Amino acid sequence: MAIAEQSDLFLRACRRQPVERTPVWFMRQAGRYLPEYRALRAQHSLLELCRTPELAAEITLFTVRKLEVDAAIIFADLLLPAQAMGMELDFVEGEGPVLSDPIRSAADLARLHLPADGELRCVSEAIRAVCKDLHGKLPVIGFSGAPFTLASYMIEGGASRDFLHTKRLMFHHPELWTDLVNQLVQVLSEFLRSQVEAGAAALQIFDSWVGALAPSDYQELVLPYSRRIFEAVRPTGVPTIHFGTSTAGLLGRMAQAGADVIAVDWRVSLDVAWSQIGYEHGIQGNLDPTLLLAPFERVATGASQILRAAAARPGHIFNLGHGVLADTPPETLANLVEFVHSETGSR
Ligand code: CP3
Repeated sequence: MAIAEQSDLFLRACRRQPVERTPVWFMRQAGRYLPEYRALRAQHSLLELCRTPELAAEITLFTVRKLEVDAAIIFADLLLPAQAMGMELDFVEGEGPVLSDPIRSAADLARLHLPADGELRCVSEAIRAVCKDLHGKLPVIGFSGAPFTLASYMIEGGASRDFLHTKRLMFHHPELWTDLVNQLVQVLSEFLRSQVEAGAAALQIFDSWVGALAPSDYQELVLPYSRRIFEAVRPTGVPTIHFGTSTAGLLGRMAQAGADVIAVDWRVSLDVAWSQIGYEHGIQGNLDPTLLLAPFERVATGASQILRAAAARPGHIFNLGHGVLADTPPETLANLVEFVHSETGSR
């Protein structure tokens, strides 16, 4: 067991306060690349793992102990709120998530409902269990999808390349779009607040696929709803992180949604991204997850470039530009944590 003694390193970086070394954590740090996860997954479906607080807590905890990262993200899935609102969710081997009867009409929308009391309680219970075990030694990150990304799964019924159905709803039926994202703002705001109540010390909002939008469409049809989520959670006082991929053309607008930290992928240089986001925000990122399949010297070169781009400015949290891939060697991730800590620890 080797959990960093600096429990608030990550939280201080979120608030752009000075830190002794750059904090590190990874999106999807608990996942199929870990043999311990695969062993549990052989016995349970992904939804069982997510919906059983003891199992979700166990996965969260063995991951942070193995990697020695500076934050734990609660093990759950972005799509749980869609299921709680009445959609049937399944994870199909080799295909990813499938939501049956996607939302494409007023009649489909009418089938949605607010989550029943306790429907999402599994996540806050898992957070409570993790916090109890960590004794405040490490912050726990709660999370949800952002309205656009969650809506896109509910409208497409699964993963998508062009977001055709989503954009059709946005552009042809703006009143249905508004209805759907208003419902999501309400559900997600409440869900996030319940996670903080359970002990989450920070929140990350995943808008993974928002880079598919033109900036003006983002501004008109997405930004107002994302902004309302950040407004709803601000009174809790915990720092917030706003993540998206392919967002190089959206960064200034995303920053206006109100998160403390903007998370970027590898398609943009971190220094360029930060100058567009503004230095009054922190930044998280942004190593290409595919690079972790390369020899470690190549990984170290990539990580060093990112640290140079961050220029020791307060407010950088080291992460990947997207989730850890299933083929990643676990020791490469552990070595990367150590590398970032040792490179930044002497300043
Ligand atoms: O360690 C962590 O980061 C916490 C756990 C976590 C999961 N999903 C577990 C999971 C988190 C933060 C998520 C978020 C999530 N889920 C997102 C946003 C982040 C992103 O990657 O952009 C999205 C889009 C989803 C929806 C989702 N869940 C997809 C598209 C998939 C299939 C992809 C794949 O790798 O097969 C999932 C499945 C999923 N969620 C896994 C895990 C660990 C895969 C492992 C399994 O099937 O057992």
